[in-house]
Amino acid sequence: MLGRTGRKVGVIGLGAWQLGGDWGQVDERDALNTLSTALESGVNFIDTADEYGDGRSERIIGALLRSHGQTGHTGELTVGTKMGRRAAQIPENYNAANFRAWTDRSRRNLGVERLDLVQLHCPPDPVYASDEVFDALDALVEDGTVAAYGVSVRTCEQALTAIRRPHLATIQIVLNAFRLKPLEQVLPAAAKAGVGVIARVPLASGLLSGRYTAKTVFGADDHRTYNRRGESFDVGETFSGVDYATGLEAVERLRPLVPEGVTLAQFALRWVIDQEAVSVVIPGARNAEQARANASAAALAPLAPDTHRAVRDIYDELIRPQVHHQW
Ligand SMILES: NC(=O)c1ccc[n+]([C@@H]2O[C@H](COP(=O)([O-])OP(=O)(O)OC[C@H]3O[C@@H](n4cnc5c(N)ncnc54)[C@H](OP(=O)(O)O)[C@@H]3O)[C@@H](O)[C@H]2O)c1
Repeated sequence: MLGRTGRKVGVIGLGAWQLGGDWGQVDERDALNTLSTALESGVNFIDTADEYGDGRSERIIGALLRSHGQTGHTGELTVGTKMGRRAAQIPENYNAANFRAWTDRSRRNLGVERLDLVQLHCPPDPVYASDEVFDALDALVEDGTVAAYGVSVRTCEQALTAIRRPHLATIQIVLNAFRLKPLEQVLPAAAKAGVGVIARVPLASGLLSGRYTAKTVFGADDHRTYNRRGESFDVGETFSGVDYATGLEAVERLRPLVPEGVTLAQFALRWVIDQEAVSVVIPGARNAEQARANASAAALAPLAPDTHRAVRDIYDELIRPQVHHQW
């Protein structure tokens, strides 16, 4: 169950940032093929945002819904979108009038009457403390514009503040083998409150796939090039804020822990869904092959307790000093 949305979702979903932009071009046919393959592989939750490709990701998902004959609603599929980051990042922009305009645009892009889930997209800190903001979100639910709302957060502190809101359906947070802090307080608090947890960036932007080396070159239009030091947005969203060389070293330490017949990416996803309170993990996929491989991690056996301890040891030694105090 996806928190207070009341919707049933499988543990592996799909992140659709890649289908919008910021990761180099993915053409529309490949994007649609990635989405259909994810659905055929059992995925029934897709995460997108109004900002991804300035609406392109939402529009492609809308095309998928139409091709499945789902006009006006998403059927068995749950689509979570996000709003807020097309506007200047000042708290005043998070107001009722903008929420209405932003959700109307997302409804048009997706071709649905009502959004299944809308998430505030990592808003500035004061937004979390504003009763007006949450009253305005409640109003969107009351008039049927959205079925439920959540927040996507940067820090554990923001997550804990948001979880106190009585009608919050979900939080979305970075959680992976390089980002363990949410396990301390956020996941237990979400579980206690009945708030769903959407775990994002589970592969640390692909680092945890184990495919990259010191020589790997990412495109100039890929955030793994242009945001490596947080030049455009929060550096915690690119390689989870881990320095690239340290990330490669940690990956080499993880490799021997991976069971036979399993890829490092699948291992990394299994690690996330082994965490109690995670409702759904949303690996981003740039092609059908990745979408299929990721979906299959749901059927793997949970990792052994010793393996979980070993992952934590690697985190404590190499990663913790870089990330734990920041997010
Ligand atoms: N602020 C926010 O709310 C926010 C921020 C970030 C992300 N998100 C959401 O979270 C989703 C997931 O995060 P993310 O996409 O940033 O990072 P991610 O899921 O950790 O990494 C995605 C990358 O991993 C690689 N990959 C995926 N599946 C693979 C497989 N089976 N085998 C090998 N490599 C694989 C691909 O890299 P290559 O491109 O190199 O092939 C892909 O682009 C996003 O799509 C988005 O929906 C939200």
